[in-house]
Amino acid sequence: MIKFDNPCLDRPYLVFKEKYNESLIAKQDNIEAICISSYSPKDDEVNARYVNLKFINDNQFIFFSNYNSPKSIEFNQHEQITASIYWSRTNVQIRMKAYIKKTSKEFNQNYFAERDEKKNALAISSYQSSPIDSYEMLKKNYEICLKKNNLNECPDYWGGYSFTPYYFEFWEGHKSRLNKREAYKFQNDEWIHSFLQA
Ligand SMILES: Cc1cc2nc3c(=O)[nH]c(=O)nc-3n(C[C@H](O)[C@H](O)[C@H](O)COP(=O)(O)O)c2cc1C
Repeated sequence: MIKFDNPCLDRPYLVFKEKYNESLIAKQDNIEAICISSYSPKDDEVNARYVNLKFINDNQFIFFSNYNSPKSIEFNQHEQITASIYWSRTNVQIRMKAYIKKTSKEFNQNYFAERDEKKNALAISSYQSSPIDSYEMLKKNYEICLKKNNLNECPDYWGGYSFTPYYFEFWEGHKSRLNKREAYKFQNDEWIHSFLQA
């Protein structure tokens, strides 16, 4: 589940919450899953991967990751990202464009301290996306880490990312194929709304 704190009352945020609630009621699996696309200037290529959206805090969307991972290196080099969600139970796609930044150390530490220690051991023990000789080795590193006694201390290389969209697009699939698309773009301090052809 995504946790909504101090919800933003701007129109696209209200639409997001409404579609989220409908998908939650429809028992959408993996409702937190969101695909984050980023650009690597070094390789001149676009990458995408799913993460779990944990919070929407006012107008900030927040997920957590390893700060040394390929995605984090890309975010450092090119802050603009695109995020997309598809909720199959309600046949809704949401696309967002935003600039991404790290959450504060204090926020990361507080969140880490309240998480399950087994989950924390995974975050601590893994050099995310680095090659390893075998899957067994990954498990061994994790098991060694489980025996440590500082599993509530957030390492510097792990934490949150937050993004505040400047663009939202809501796509609603209809049986007739006359799918409904609505976009909201933040321009000159206001949200400009438009309908898009399907
Ligand atoms: C449904 C789903 C949720 C995921 N959630 C996260 C997450 O919250 N944070 C994370 O770092 N990786 C998560 N992953 C793994 C990422 O997709 C990815 O494999 C990993 O972060 C490495 O990405 P990178 O090499 O682009 O940095 C998730 C994968 C799936 C399929």
